[in-house]
Amino acid sequence: MTTLFVNIQELLQVRDSDIAFVAGADMKILPSIKNAYLLIEGDEIKDFGEMSDLPFIEADTIEDCAGKIVLPTWYDSHTHIVYAGNRELEFVDRINGLSYEEIANRGGGILNSAKKLQETSEDDLYEQSKLRLMEVMKMGTGGVEIKSGYGLTTEAELKMLRVIKRLKEEFSLPIKATFLGAHAFPAEYKNNHEGYIDVLINEMLPKVAAENLAEFVDAFCETGYFSVAQTRKIVEAAKQYGLVPKIHVNQFTMINGIEMAVDCKALSVDHLEVLNDADVEVLKGSGTMPVALPSCSYFISIPYTPARKLIDNGLPLALASDYNPGTTPSGNMNFVVATACIKMKITPEEAINAATINGAYAMNLSREYGSITKGKKANVMITKPVPSFYYLPYSFGEQLIDKVMIQGNF
Ligand code: NIG
Ligand code: FE
Repeated sequence: MTTLFVNIQELLQVRDSDIAFVAGADMKILPSIKNAYLLIEGDEIKDFGEMSDLPFIEADTIEDCAGKIVLPTWYDSHTHIVYAGNRELEFVDRINGLSYEEIANRGGGILNSAKKLQETSEDDLYEQSKLRLMEVMKMGTGGVEIKSGYGLTTEAELKMLRVIKRLKEEFSLPIKATFLGAHAFPAEYKNNHEGYIDVLINEMLPKVAAENLAEFVDAFCETGYFSVAQTRKIVEAAKQYGLVPKIHVNQFTMINGIEMAVDCKALSVDHLEVLNDADVEVLKGSGTMPVALPSCSYFISIPYTPARKLIDNGLPLALASDYNPGTTPSGNMNFVVATACIKMKITPEEAINAATINGAYAMNLSREYGSITKGKKANVMITKPVPSFYYLPYSFGEQLIDKVMIQGNF
């Protein structure tokens, strides 16, 4: 099966060499070909170039992309798509003046979602999550990481991870699973934090590993949640089972969690709405990807990750949605990209690099996905006719993705 895209107004993120991620000043460069063609064979990118160099090809399908942009799909490296029910009442409470912390302290927040999830069957949870996944795929997401963390009991955490496994089996886009048992302390362990960590390490982790349910481990390293020392303990235990760390850190407070995460060779550190110079220094040359979640900042009115500071210091940046029922009930990566440009003052080139190749890196996928490179997987999308690719973040809120190809199929 071959598909030939012709007359592409501009083909974005064209890379000859196999790069893992882009950083610093290079993020402003988004290599492209104007008036281009793109040939897909099976599930791979076979060839591309200028229309004037198009060889004679008898393709099974021809897509005329006149006036349209073609680019790799979005790689959303941080989501909590598997959850039960919603928290719209807390949303209204926040409008009426309560803070995220106040809501959490009275049993809302993560514990509210955990209660709902514990009462939901695995099949029901799968159906709810599947709808969300289908929705984000229509908007251009072609690879996604999904976390557990709304179970908080061994049984419910395994239920979440089994739902993620089922999504992996049913959908052809790459899905990576993260074990986030350390998302919050359950009410029963309010005064016995070490007791919960013991369950997590000695009961949950061995079962997660035995069923091969996760490739990554995460913890909410934050004041009032998991301390730096507790996070390190969990991460080190998880590493014994081969799980790679990706850590929620610096969302509300700076507690030197980034230093610990880098020391533990985390693949990514996510949130970073608050960040100091020492955090920036420690990230340099580390291979740990800083991940910003601008939809979360937007929804709960907290500062935006200082992306300019990161990039201007030579660091890379990835963008992700954080799709979850509490702080980001949206998985729309087009909105993420637009909001990053508008609120974090990064250019469309930087934002697209952050949401494609760097997003793929933040879930260990960038060798196979995230750029238009011969031999990489054919996860690409076509926009509606637009004046230029700058129009994508400019016309924020408009659904401009026309077609999404996953592994060579629309
Ligand atoms: O990434 N910060 C921690 N976890 C989620 C929100 C959890 C919730 O409120 O349900 C986040 O924002
Ligand atoms: Fe999150």
